Amino acid sequence: MKPIVIYGSGGHAREVAEIVMHAHQEQGRPSLLGFLDDRSERKGERVLGYEVLGGFSWLEEHLSEFDLIVAIGDNSVRQRIADRALELGATFGSAVSPLAHFSPACQIGPGAMIFPRVTVSTNVVVGAHVILGVHSSISHDCRVGDFSFLCPGARLTGNVTLGPRVMIGTNACVIPGKSVGSGSVVGAGGVVVDDLPGDVVAVGVPARAKLGQ
Ligand SMILES: CC(C)(COP(=O)(O)OP(=O)(O)OC[C@H]1O[C@@H](n2cnc3c(N)ncnc32)[C@H](O)[C@@H]1OP(=O)(O)O)[C@@H](O)C(=O)NCCC(=O)NCCS
Repeated sequence: MKPIVIYGSGGHAREVAEIVMHAHQEQGRPSLLGFLDDRSERKGERVLGYEVLGGFSWLEEHLSEFDLIVAIGDNSVRQRIADRALELGATFGSAVSPLAHFSPACQIGPGAMIFPRVTVSTNVVVGAHVILGVHSSISHDCRVGDFSFLCPGARLTGNVTLGPRVMIGTNACVIPGKSVGSGSVVGAGGVVVDDLPGDVVAVGVPARAKLGQ
């Protein structure tokens, strides 16, 4: 079992690190080795007592020694970094809170970050490098595309499909059977009642694409 290295050292990365530490203590899951950050001035700094080890050059030199979690909130940036790390041969771990609840009949992809009080129901498939924020929930038969992000309290009801790189804002929800296309954003508190295409920002109840797009 290889230790975990977290790419990123900001607020989201610290939250993910605490989940990794909790899962290590409670469930014997992999321990935390340190953080990576491409800003050279951060090398050697300590975050939650763990060292910022370096950037991509450190990653390349030590590839076989750890599993990586890319803890960057922006979906496109997270994908760019994960794709580059994968090309170099990195392997990915995940941060799964012991306080989350999972159906035995769900699948979670590599690189996932699952926060406390998340619920994932039956026959749900969550793609790679997805973030499920604190108190978010996913009901039966949903599909969540790679690099998507459910912000705190976001809810997917049954049979919802999200494309890749979708962000569902804080306390937003998607009603049963609807879909949200790749790269789209649903603003905080929005309620999706119709299928949304890709690459739109939709807000409100019901959620509508913002003017000017
Ligand atoms: C939807 C969102 C992405 C838009 O961001 P933006 O493009 O920077 O939008 P702006 O702040 O410039 O606002 C543009 C307009 O949309 C409105 N608006 C913004 N967010 C809104 C929301 N969630 N619901 C309703 N209206 C919203 C603004 O009031 C403004 O209206 P106006 O043009 O009449 O003045 C953002 O406001 C949001 O809700 N993000 C969710 C973030 C989140 O939950 N993060 C959690 C991280 S853990």
